[in-house]
Parts: sequence; structure tokens; C-alpha cells
Amino acid sequence: MTQQPPLRFDPSFETVPADEDEIQRGLTEAMLSIQRKTHADTGYAHRAVHAKAHGYLKARFEVLPGLPPALAQGLFAAPASYEAILRFSTTPGDILDDRVSTPRGAALKVLGVPGPRLRGSEGETTQNYVLGNSPAFQIGTAEGFLRQLRPLAATTGRAEPLKRAVSAVTRTAEAALEMVGGKSATLTTLAGQAKTHLLGDSFFSQAALLHGAYFGKVALSPVSSDLVALSERPLDLAGRPDGIREAVRDFFRTCPAVWELRVQLATDIEAMPVEDAAAMWSEDESPYRPVARITAAPQDTWSDAMRAAVEDRLAFNPWTGLAAHRPLGSIMRARRPAYAAAREYRSRGNRVEIAEPTAFPVA
Ligand code: HEM
Repeated sequence: MTQQPPLRFDPSFETVPADEDEIQRGLTEAMLSIQRKTHADTGYAHRAVHAKAHGYLKARFEVLPGLPPALAQGLFAAPASYEAILRFSTTPGDILDDRVSTPRGAALKVLGVPGPRLRGSEGETTQNYVLGNSPAFQIGTAEGFLRQLRPLAATTGRAEPLKRAVSAVTRTAEAALEMVGGKSATLTTLAGQAKTHLLGDSFFSQAALLHGAYFGKVALSPVSSDLVALSERPLDLAGRPDGIREAVRDFFRTCPAVWELRVQLATDIEAMPVEDAAAMWSEDESPYRPVARITAAPQDTWSDAMRAAVEDRLAFNPWTGLAAHRPLGSIMRARRPAYAAAREYRSRGNRVEIAEPTAFPVA
């Protein structure tokens, strides 16, 4: 198969339905209702989804030299080196026993990046990537997502999470996900998540972003041999409710890690639409290509200081970043008000200020 050249972005590739504001309000409200319930249950204002963290990392983000012109865009226009923060998570809004295996997330914040900003993110200097461990979102549009989320959000928090989780694991993967609080089920892929080491996973933007004059999807992929060796490595979680977090912490006691940030540039708007986040873009037609290297030295991934700084006082948001990397399409647009409201809820609920860091937040 011959690969086509990257396609320049055209504003007509995005189409905004007439009722988009209403759909976005519905999604934001559904997210807030999850937060209210878990807050009432636990006394802590958690993230609406991806509430359970499995580790925080200090990392270095290096833009690769010698990128071809279509990749050398925006943040990647010239080689540079930045500090970065990573937070690993699993999708549910509840803090569940890890035996209930759900998809994973990775949130990356690159500090001190120069360049024109996205609307609403002026005055800040970070570039955020908020990623999940499958290449496409499970639902194409915000409307579809809202339809699934609404009835399920209403059933959240009716049972104590651990009890629910333990009874859930005795059922099939799909039934289990239905048991695990309504919203959790919706935000998982419904296919079940293998019980593997999180650090072997690749993480994806799932939906599209601008890449300067072009557009594409982004992936964070393990490249150091110690990380690659963990790909699909089974994790024994019996009797270990926080086994994923413990495995991440064990790894970083002695091992460094290297990932690549990779970009899959779109080459064909029909086959690689921006308005359908569930569309898989063929890697044969356009492979993910490296644009940056992320390295982390051995460190404590569950320190009190990092937990307080990252869990309480930071928010990762795909709309915090450079205008050159504007999120695209229905799902991405819906994330703008939802993340802002969720962050505000956490800030008020936990009585902490949440702000974009200008320097690494822990000494
Ligand atoms: C319309 C679709 C979506 C909505 C409404 C939504 C909503 C949210 C909200 C409200 C939060 C909590 C933010 C906070 O409290 O600071 C969140 C966190 C998160 N979301 Fe989404 N999300 C959506 C799509 C996605 C997609 C497509 C991905 C993955 C590619 C994703 C990955 C994550 C991750 C990893 C976090 C945790 C961030 C952290 O570590 O702080 N979300 N999402």
C-alpha cells in the first residue's frame, strides 16, 4: 500500500451540530453528578473519572532533532528539553479494588513551553496530553457518549465500592463493568481490560489534535527495554487491591524508563475523520512517528509530596496547551467545559487552589 502525504487541516473538517451546547451541558452535569456522589461517599472531591491514581512521575520531555517538516510543527518545531509530570490512572470515578480491571489513562504535563496559546489557556505555559490505553475512544461523538452516560450516572454510588467490586469480579468482564458503578461502566471500553502491568501499555489521544498546519493523533509508547518487557505482562492482583500502583512503584525503585511521544498524521479525511473519535486510523496508511522522548529516572512514584501536589493541586486538561495543538472534533470539544467544571468542583470541594505549574511542584 502506498502511503499518502500528510493532509493539511481545513476548518471544514470540523462540523458543529446545532444542539452541541446542550449536549455539552448534559455531559458536564453527568460528570459533576459522579463527583457529588463519590465526594459524599468518601469526603474527598475526586476526579469525575480516572479517580484512582497509580503513580506520579517527574520526567524529562525532549523534542527530537531532525524531524521532517510535517512533524516539526508547534511544540515540535525545534529540538528542546522540558520538565514534565506524569499521572497514571484507571477510568472509574470510584476508587476500586484493582481486581476489577478497567482501562488505564496517562496524563502528561510538559512545563514551560513557548508559543501562542489555546483560548482559555492564555497566560499558562504547559502543554497537556490526556491519554487512554486504546487507540480510539469507544464512542464517536459527545451525543452518543451522553446517551450512554445519563442513565448510568444515576445508578452510581448505591453500594460501597469495594463490595461492589468484589461481587463484580465473580461475573464476566462485561457484567462486571456494569456492576462497577454506572459511570465507570460507560467510561470503560466494555470489552474488559487484561490484568497486565500498566507500564507495558501505550497510551493514545484517541481523538484528533491539530499538529500545526496538519492534524493527527498522539501516542505515548514504551521504548526502553525494561518497559517493553512489561507489555502484556500478567499482574497477579489476588489480595492486592492496589496492586497496579505497587507494581509501578516497585519498577521505579530501581529502573529508569524511556517512552516516545509519537504522532499519527492524518492523510485522508474520509478514512481519518475528526468528528468520529471511535474511528480507528489505519497505522498501515499512516504510522505513529516519534516526535519526542520522555525519560524518567528511578524515583518514588507514590510519595506524599507528589500525591499532594499532583492529586490535589493539578488538573490535566487537553485544552491546556498551545493553539498549534488544538483538540479537534465532538468528543474533544465536549471535554473543554467538562474538565473546567470538574476541576472547579475539586478545588472547592477540597479547599485547595488548582493551578498550572510554572516549575516542577515538588522540591
Ligand atoms: C466527552 C468525552 C470526555 C469527557 C466528558 C471527559 C471528562 C473527564 C473529566 C471531567 C475528568 C476529570 C478532570 C479533573 O477533575 O481535573 C477527566 C479526566 C481524565 N480523562 Fe477524560 N473525558 C472525556 C474523554 C476522554 C478521552 C477520549 C480520554 C483519553 C484519550 C480521557 C482520559 C482522561 C484521563 C487520563 C483523565 C485523568 C486526568 C488526570 O490524570 O488528572 N478522557 N475526563
